[in-house]
Amino acid sequence: MSEELRISGGFGKGERYAELLPQIEALISGEVDLVANMANVSAALRQVHGFFWVGFYLVKEGQLVLGPFQGPVACTRIGYGRGVCGTAWKERKSVIVPDVDKFPGHIACNSASKSEIVVPGYDSEGEVRWVLDVDSDRHNDFDEVDREYLERLMRLMEEKHN
Ligand code: SME
Repeated sequence: MSEELRISGGFGKGERYAELLPQIEALISGEVDLVANMANVSAALRQVHGFFWVGFYLVKEGQLVLGPFQGPVACTRIGYGRGVCGTAWKERKSVIVPDVDKFPGHIACNSASKSEIVVPGYDSEGEVRWVLDVDSDRHNDFDEVDREYLERLMRLMEEKHN
């Protein structure tokens, strides 16, 4: 496919995800490199939804290490069970945080971030291999629609890269 996203202007978040997902699938289908695909997935999500920060942390030697992202500079390493990202890794499930100030241990890479969703990606053994972190500069910006589509997106990336 061309390297241009076509979103016809559905106003709802779900409609935008529904249009975006097949295009991301096409975009990553022709590329075998995980980092390259993470970079484009970050860019696509930020471009279409206008999120404040979108990026990946990869599990490396017992830590989460910053991978491809779009947005302001961010912390580079997060421990197991630390912050929202480390919690999603430890609990092996998506975590939605409506107000980051009320999440004990939240790691504030940027004070403008107000709400957050973190969605894990797994290897073929079912171990967490990376997490996708999406931050908003508004409270309560993430819900089950984001969870559903971002989890679907992680399944596409796992199929491609496991
Ligand atoms: N807030 C995250 C850290 C990563 S940044 O938001 C990009 C956390 O608590 O894990």
